[in-house]
Amino acid sequence: MSAARKKVAVLISGTGSNLKALIDASADSDCPYVIDHVITNRPDAPGLIYAEGAGLARTVINHKEFASREQFDGILDGFLKSISPDIVALAGFMRILTERFIHEWQGKMTNIHPSLLPAFKGLKPQQQALDAGVAEAGCTVHWVTPGVDEGPIIAQMRVPVIAGDTAETLSARILEKEHKLYHKALKMVARGEAVFPAG
Ligand code: GRF
Repeated sequence: MSAARKKVAVLISGTGSNLKALIDASADSDCPYVIDHVITNRPDAPGLIYAEGAGLARTVINHKEFASREQFDGILDGFLKSISPDIVALAGFMRILTERFIHEWQGKMTNIHPSLLPAFKGLKPQQQALDAGVAEAGCTVHWVTPGVDEGPIIAQMRVPVIAGDTAETLSARILEKEHKLYHKALKMVARGEAVFPAG
């Protein structure tokens, strides 16, 4: 008998195309993980439609209803503990998380970022790549640690930068890879092939 599939909670804030790709890819019964819950900080996040379409449990924790980042993170932490996912996958989750929260989930929490980290952390990494004149761009799935976009790398995929690229065309090329990369990385984590480095 195959091992139980790892439970993944996906956190989104926006379009949710990575969420959709994960939902589709994990429909395969051989997949070592299953999307167990979708959580968003935005009640109007368009990506919720994918969770709904797939009949997944979904929860809105609206950050605007909290006076501080600490309060929001405290509620999110409590909620996550109540559903006890094996993996917390940030997929376009546009909130800076407090150190306290990150320490609670360190080793279980992953993020996807549209650059070849450690290059181009933070906002608009595709534009940063164009501005730097690099020949290659790409995307990274990494463990979440307190520094923004700084955690140990799990997997990356590369794309060429093509003459005439704009932030939009490059972003679209990277996003196509993101949709493959996050599934690949979550399979590695679920199988124990990628583990948060000790020490
Ligand atoms: C992706 O480019 C992801 O890497 C970044 O935010 C974007 C989210 O896209 N963190 P989507 O909501 O998954 O479509």
